[in-house]
Amino acid sequence: MKKLFLLLFCACGAVSSFAAGPTFTVDASHAAGTVSPRLYGLMTEEINHSYDGGLYAELIRNRNFLDSASEPSHWSVVSGEGVVTVIVLDTNQPFNDKLTTSLRLTVAGADKKNPAGVANSGYWGIPVQPHSHYNALILARAGQNFTGPITVSIVSDDGKTVYASQKISGLSADWKRFTAVLKTGSVTPTAKAHFVMTLDRPGTVWFGMVSLFPPTWNDQPNGFRKDLMQMLVDMNPKFLRFPGGNYVEGDTVETRFEWKDTIGPIEERHGHQCPWGYRSTDGLGLLEFLEWCEDMKAEPLLAVYAGYSLKHIHVNPGADLDPYVQDALDEIEYVTGDTNTKWGAERAKDGHPAPFALHYVEIGNEDWFDKSGSYEQRYAQFRDAIKAKYPQLKAISTIGNDQSERIRVHNVKPDMTDEHYYRSVDEFLKMSPNYARSYDRNGPEIFVGEWAAYETPFVPWDKRSAGEAPTPSLKSAIGDAAFMAAMERNSDLIKMQCYAPMLVNVNPGARQWRPDLIGYDAISSYGSPSYYAIQMFSRNLGDEILSTEPVETSVQGSATRDSKTGEIFLKLVNPQATAEQLNIEIKGAQSLASKASVITLSGNLDDSNSITNPRAVVPVSTTVHGVKPSFTYTMPPHSVVVLKLNSHS
Ligand code: AHR
Repeated sequence: MKKLFLLLFCACGAVSSFAAGPTFTVDASHAAGTVSPRLYGLMTEEINHSYDGGLYAELIRNRNFLDSASEPSHWSVVSGEGVVTVIVLDTNQPFNDKLTTSLRLTVAGADKKNPAGVANSGYWGIPVQPHSHYNALILARAGQNFTGPITVSIVSDDGKTVYASQKISGLSADWKRFTAVLKTGSVTPTAKAHFVMTLDRPGTVWFGMVSLFPPTWNDQPNGFRKDLMQMLVDMNPKFLRFPGGNYVEGDTVETRFEWKDTIGPIEERHGHQCPWGYRSTDGLGLLEFLEWCEDMKAEPLLAVYAGYSLKHIHVNPGADLDPYVQDALDEIEYVTGDTNTKWGAERAKDGHPAPFALHYVEIGNEDWFDKSGSYEQRYAQFRDAIKAKYPQLKAISTIGNDQSERIRVHNVKPDMTDEHYYRSVDEFLKMSPNYARSYDRNGPEIFVGEWAAYETPFVPWDKRSAGEAPTPSLKSAIGDAAFMAAMERNSDLIKMQCYAPMLVNVNPGARQWRPDLIGYDAISSYGSPSYYAIQMFSRNLGDEILSTEPVETSVQGSATRDSKTGEIFLKLVNPQATAEQLNIEIKGAQSLASKASVITLSGNLDDSNSITNPRAVVPVSTTVHGVKPSFTYTMPPHSVVVLKLNSHS
């Protein structure tokens, strides 16, 4: 209704004849540059429960009992009447040297009428879908005389409904691997459920790991949540930057992303403390990152640990750094090596014989924080070793033009540098018109590896933003779009860019950073207006840059053209509270179809999407007529518009 009002009373979007005033000129007579085919990508790391409790579809929280050394967090006792039930962490009965703690369950006095056991609350609930199935994996051993059964169920939080149930038996004093498929019938979807394992007789059982997966994207074992994967695929990403971010560095050298600990069967993964305040299972490990790329038809942009950790700890360049350089070479071999190489063979053993294509390797993350000044040498040491073995790879320096010239790498010319921008909407609107204009076109290629506009008074890491919605409003999308337009105008040099962070679990306590692009709880997900703005930009991109010139307008924008079809993608951002009657001049286009498609994202600045209202701000597709080399187009207030013009130059 609101949108209809705007269309009727502002005549927004209507095309009329040219008049004097604000003008946006596109020079279609020639291509001013080539759009990078990798321009739009994704950045990811374990933050805000992006993987555990997010994209990684595991439903059991603290599945290997290592989240806390003092208590079995997220596990609780389920006890029948007159039954004594005890759960305790046990380091004397580990499953193996990776799963170093088990959960001991002791039940005394249980019978068929009064079963008792243990429950897991999942990541803010266990999602239950109708006519679905859930694959349970349980590593267990039992005390003398207990062989089972254990009843494994998904139960409503009020205890009244058992959604699915199975029994496992054959337990013995030796560790064994049990699997069960829990099937649901006609149920109303809910996340108000938990996972339960009960005994109907006295006994003692140790659990080494308990895992539960719903159907995953492409039915991949140890795979990804379907709804979130669909949202990511819909962004049309060309690359995935992983595994960080701070996550690659860790707080300390010991808690860095140690890739060799993240491969192989999940029961061989100990997990590690992530710098964002919680433990990662490492269930989403190196091979899963690569398969994730494969699923999205995007290429990996691999960040390697480069000898700097967040607590201002650095490894001295030279001999001390050599083992880390070797680790990175091994990692690249795991990604790209044939099966006749050591690490290529390991990847094949892990289930993926085909190597992955890799073009870019990032040496660390935000190394401007390393006040020792060691980065220049660390970068060179990694780069030289990588190039010696893989001359085709490009090595990205993490200190870019957004940092002082003095601390950038000078001893060699980096192939590419990474810039990060977390700025307010106003700052983005101010900096975007001239962004990268003065950059040396013979300098390193540019990667904008993290960026996001925030619309609240708080910088993204400010704890006070915990009170704000996890995902940003339309206001941020306006700032984001202005910056994306700037990057498109300069995409002869800006070869890749990605928003960060991408994912956020919206439950209280799950988040460490705001704003974030995509929000979710255990069962639902939604995109912020910024998500849709990125989608509008990335899905409508040509391969030629066309020069643009705004005159007497605060509208910002960019234009690209598909050289094969002649289609021009004109992106316009109106940050004003009033409609803008914009004279659009397409110079040098020999023929221009009168009909054009338009995609519009608009509304009030504080309009936003959420779990309960996921589609309050979404792009609207329309058609306009009367397009000519010079025409007037009325942009709605606070809007992002993509005009798709059919032309031949
Ligand atoms: O995106 C969140 C964090 O911001 C990243 O981990 C880090 O690289 C940056 O400081």
